[in-house]
Amino acid sequence: MNANLFDYINKYREIVHKEYNRYLEILDVPDQLKKSMLYSLDAGGKRLRPVLLIASFEAYATNNIQKVLSSAIALEMIHTYSLIHDDLPAMDDDDYRRGKLTNHKVFNEATAILAGDALLTYSFEIIANDPLLTDSEKVTIINMLAFCSGPKGMVGGQILDMEAEDNPVSLSEMEQIHALKTGELLKFAIYTGAYLGDATDVQLDYLKEFAYYLGLIFQVQDDILDVTGEQEKLGKPVGSDEGNMKSTYPKLLGLEGAIVQKEKYVELAKQALEKAGASDSNLMALTDYFSNRDY
Ligand code: IPE
Ligand code: IPE
Ligand code: MG
Ligand code: MG
Ligand code: MG
Repeated sequence: MNANLFDYINKYREIVHKEYNRYLEILDVPDQLKKSMLYSLDAGGKRLRPVLLIASFEAYATNNIQKVLSSAIALEMIHTYSLIHDDLPAMDDDDYRRGKLTNHKVFNEATAILAGDALLTYSFEIIANDPLLTDSEKVTIINMLAFCSGPKGMVGGQILDMEAEDNPVSLSEMEQIHALKTGELLKFAIYTGAYLGDATDVQLDYLKEFAYYLGLIFQVQDDILDVTGEQEKLGKPVGSDEGNMKSTYPKLLGLEGAIVQKEKYVELAKQALEKAGASDSNLMALTDYFSNRDY
């Protein structure tokens, strides 16, 4: 990663950390629930979705980032909930996440399920109560967040992912799974940042295309790292996909084929970004980072 991007991500990582803690501090709820929610948020994570949302805002906006923080935190909460549930025995059955034992291993399955539910629902409350957003902006953002995280987005992708276990799929089916389970939350980040930054409708359309390819890039690299990565760096087990007989890019195309396919997506993502008028923004460097990251 280039030094500038490293500093950029770290700067916003700290802000994200401060902000979600602030939202959790004001939450007066049963102790175990709050502990379980905080456990997974605090476990770390790269915070790439909130950073992406802020970078997308900065690609278009001239005002400061305060206005996008509630959306960025809501997104990180939904992403964290999706990981808690993804790791459950009924799903991927993984014991480590973000370098720590998974939520259900530390608490119990019921608490992990409820912590996920709580992070999901609290995220909408956070946006609905942000005094910096107009009513119309709130409706647009909440609608987009529900769409991207729900049955037409991430949740829909997760069930396709489950159904594809031990079931050969074609490249286009693979693309659909990855675009939904991972791409839709990235689309929310990119769309919402640019929307609040006053991007034009034409730019927003090209950004959706950019987000589609970025989602594929991100998940292909995740699949590749499940084969070639190191658990200590990743903070989660390697070989989980093979153990669960998942349909992945390396399984479908071989490791080399997966890398070639990812490079094609990188080209297409960059072309869309150029058409959206954002090729001189940090979104460009983030695309390369998403493609080449080693954790
Ligand atoms: C993991 O996402 C789940 C996928 C969609 C592949 P990240 O790799 O962004 O996980 P964290 O947030 O850094 O833990
Ligand atoms: C899950 O994809 C994406 C989510 C919606 C959580 P994976 O199952 O590949 O994510 P990891 O590898 O466990 O992080
Ligand atoms: Mg999974
Ligand atoms: Mg998983
Ligand atoms: Mg994975």
